[in-house]
Amino acid sequence: MAAPMTDALLPREYRSGSDPRTLRDALGCFATGVTVVTCIDADGEPVGLTANSFTSVSLDPPLLLVCVARHAASALPLSTASHFAVNVLQTGQQPASITFSTRVEDRFGCTAWALGEHGVPVLMDSLSVFECARHAVHDGGDHFILVGEVQKATFEPGLDPLLYFRGSYRRLHFD
Ligand SMILES: Cc1cc2nc3c(=O)[nH]c(=O)nc-3n(C[C@H](O)[C@H](O)[C@H](O)COP(=O)(O)O)c2cc1C
Repeated sequence: MAAPMTDALLPREYRSGSDPRTLRDALGCFATGVTVVTCIDADGEPVGLTANSFTSVSLDPPLLLVCVARHAASALPLSTASHFAVNVLQTGQQPASITFSTRVEDRFGCTAWALGEHGVPVLMDSLSVFECARHAVHDGGDHFILVGEVQKATFEPGLDPLLYFRGSYRRLHFD
């Protein structure tokens, strides 16, 4: 006879309109990479935030998207800037991911960065960087969906990705 399941092992269920914690936990089962999305604000200052809602959209034209919380400090610049960058992080950039997801005074002060060809802040040593022109901004509930057309993509072939799964940072388990 099978052993009885403890509460911790029982599948949990989300129903529309209830229990946002279960919904978040269910969504957290989708393992992702981690990015920092950056742009220059109206005062000429670099701004950015950590985001794992990144996905590719189209190869022709080359489009990608990221979902940004409407309440994020960088929401206005990111939704209006002509260009932005998606910096895909590698394992050594976990400190940058933490900095860009918490209310620190100067996020760019703790991280090596430079302006890219298209005038967007590029984080040094990223796994890959997509410099984009704003293509569209769509409604996404309490987020907006920022679609960019890739102008330039660079990547570093020798580094491992920083991963995020069930609310924790992870690394690949295999080569
Ligand atoms: C791993 C990880 C992924 C995140 N993904 C997103 C995301 O896709 N979109 C988003 O708006 N916020 C995301 N956040 C939260 C933002 O980084 C954070 O709320 C934001 O930077 C808060 O500061 P701000 O309002 O000063 O920008 C994520 C945070 C972490 C740690």
